[in-house]
Amino acid sequence: MILSKEEQALLNGEQGEAPRMAMEILSKIGEINEAERLIPIHSVHLVLHAYKSAFDAGVEAAEKIAYMGGKFSVPTTIDPYGMDAEDWRGAKTPEAYAVMQKRLEDAVMRMGVIPVWTCTPYYGFNMPKYGENVAWSESSAVAFANTVLGARTNRQTAIVDICCGILGKTPETGMHIQSNRCGEVRIRLEVDRDLKSWEYPALGYWLGKKLGSRIGVVEGMRGSPSPDHLKSLCAAAAASGSVTLLHIVGVTPEARTAEEAFGGRAPLDACVVNEADLLRTRQSMCTTSGGRAEFVALGCPHYSVHEIRRVHELLNGRKVHPQTAFWIYANRDAIRLIEKMGIRQSLEASGVVLRAETCMIISPVAPWGFKSMITDSGKCAYYGPAECGTDIIFADAAECVEAAVSGLAPM
Ligand code: F3S
Repeated sequence: MILSKEEQALLNGEQGEAPRMAMEILSKIGEINEAERLIPIHSVHLVLHAYKSAFDAGVEAAEKIAYMGGKFSVPTTIDPYGMDAEDWRGAKTPEAYAVMQKRLEDAVMRMGVIPVWTCTPYYGFNMPKYGENVAWSESSAVAFANTVLGARTNRQTAIVDICCGILGKTPETGMHIQSNRCGEVRIRLEVDRDLKSWEYPALGYWLGKKLGSRIGVVEGMRGSPSPDHLKSLCAAAAASGSVTLLHIVGVTPEARTAEEAFGGRAPLDACVVNEADLLRTRQSMCTTSGGRAEFVALGCPHYSVHEIRRVHELLNGRKVHPQTAFWIYANRDAIRLIEKMGIRQSLEASGVVLRAETCMIISPVAPWGFKSMITDSGKCAYYGPAECGTDIIFADAAECVEAAVSGLAPM
């Protein structure tokens, strides 16, 4: 790696211990990945956010970097909080867990994080432009940034992302290099209509399994999928596989045509996905069916105002079944807006609980003893069994609402 004079000075510790450590880590990572240099970035999104995944070591590492004087030099946002930010006691969060979560919060706040606590920072707080280099960690947001916005980021990891935030730089590797962004696998979507809502995460799940870390070029997507549809597709693809970038022809800025997406290269592989594949994928995402609806969880990735409003319309004033927990996860800005719109009050009167700034995967839900969870999220379906210890029923948002009202899980 070629370091500039300023970078060499940072590595020599001339600007303090935190930048020195950040330079040491990033230059080593750059060397391993054969990067020639560090490049400037416009923003960072962190994943050292929840005690459930950071554990003691992560909290102590964040505290140490803050103590060393680590300060973010570019706008730096952060993934969801490790517990309900408004009512962690009401969410049955253990006291000892809450203490560690607050220590983690304190450390990243001292470094200057923008405390959005959301996995959808691109909905207003951290929205990179086409072609901009950023260093993000949250896999769903990384896939969205590359695929939908045309920004450039690798899947960063905890601590490395903090180093990027301190230096405002990242090694020039992977997705930051144009020739690495060319499509590799041609995927023909053979569904002769706009996809239904549940088919977007199911397609993402299918793509993740099929592609692994390869770059797919999806042809045949009809209509104009909404940002929320693409969000759910990217999140599922980045969970069931290591998808960082998809070229959806007509959607991805770098894929106005399939030829452009492949960058003049021949595809390495080709496959077809049709309606029956999506239905089979949906069935494979479920580990159980039917029975009592114990826990209905929406908002992975965090629900937008539009999605919460749709649930409100679907519910239409009906009450949630007394034996069912119906929780929606969203960031505090979306919650503030739906409160101003009167929607929060109406949802709560129906028995829906809004869980602020956290999610079902990274906050402790075990104290509730749920045996199964019903969700419209492909990512949640993938991680739920391991992270929440529940069976999963993946369903459309409308079916989730009906399950919450009837108390009966979809078959
Ligand atoms: Fe976001 Fe949690 Fe899902 S961080 S993408 S809501 S697992």
